[in-house]
Amino acid sequence: MKRIGILTSGGDAPGMNAAIRAVTRTALAHGIEVYGINYGFAGLVAGDIFPMTSAEVADKINRGGTFLYSARYPEFAQEEGQLKGIEQLKKFGIDALVVIGGDGSYHGALALTKRGYNAVGLPGTIDNDIPYTDYTIGFDTACMTAADNLDKIRDTATSHQRVFVVNVMGRECGDIAMYAGVASGADAIVIPERSYDIAQIAQGLKQGFANGKKHGLVVVAEGVMNANEFKDELLKYGDFDARATVLGHVQRGGEPTVRDRILATKMGAYAVQLLLNGKGGLAVGIEGNKITHHNILDLFDEKHHGDFSLFELNKDLAK
Ligand code: F6P
Repeated sequence: MKRIGILTSGGDAPGMNAAIRAVTRTALAHGIEVYGINYGFAGLVAGDIFPMTSAEVADKINRGGTFLYSARYPEFAQEEGQLKGIEQLKKFGIDALVVIGGDGSYHGALALTKRGYNAVGLPGTIDNDIPYTDYTIGFDTACMTAADNLDKIRDTATSHQRVFVVNVMGRECGDIAMYAGVASGADAIVIPERSYDIAQIAQGLKQGFANGKKHGLVVVAEGVMNANEFKDELLKYGDFDARATVLGHVQRGGEPTVRDRILATKMGAYAVQLLLNGKGGLAVGIEGNKITHHNILDLFDEKHHGDFSLFELNKDLAK
């Protein structure tokens, strides 16, 4: 193996740049050339590919987003897209790839491996919804951002003795809601993986005010319901003043936390080692504080298991 390619795909996540840097510097240190591919699989097919130097990744470890840009490119699921991508890999003399992203990116990495180009996937998504990894790159930063915003919302909620219903991201995964919710003292956390009872949540909020609380904070994962709809439902059971906020894409940006930078760095270096050992079709993870890998195929049969003890814990903490 003489030359590897690297791309970021799907929704960007803080720490992707740190991963690109780790892959690039580790590969260069082993005498392997690195080519950057812009705009994910779309850029691979279009041949938007350039040689990366060590200087190219300088001053990037602390930057949010991805300097290789990203794109959602469903066309790569089709044979035609894959063959065009391979033509470009041949043209640029790229022997293997590191792909940073979520589920869609892993499908692309597996397809390339099956066609003879070893590809290793790194879990880059704020959602923390990938199996066989306790944490994904970007999740910690997104939780920090969400918690920071929830704290700010609580200030104004308290001033007006209001209830706020706040949507956080995560697609069908409730991890951001659980972590940011517990960290910011939410009165209720609502996630797709667990049932909920709006009447009971309203009752809890009323009880909170009766006990002397000056605010009510309900964190609702986006996969459950829109915050506005949820607030309207809640108001059918309670006579409090309520507002809804959707945190949205602010959760995807910003400087990665130290935890995300370190995770991205360890995973990036590990991915290069796998490729150096001639391995492909693998997804890197962190399990019990150890960097691990699994066959990408196994990930498709498995679901991410969140730490639902947080959800249970919050029921008592919110009283
Ligand atoms: O997967 C990351 C994520 O931010 C999800 O949390 C969210 O549902 C989705 O992407 C938003 O996608 P888009 O940026 O395409 O609107």
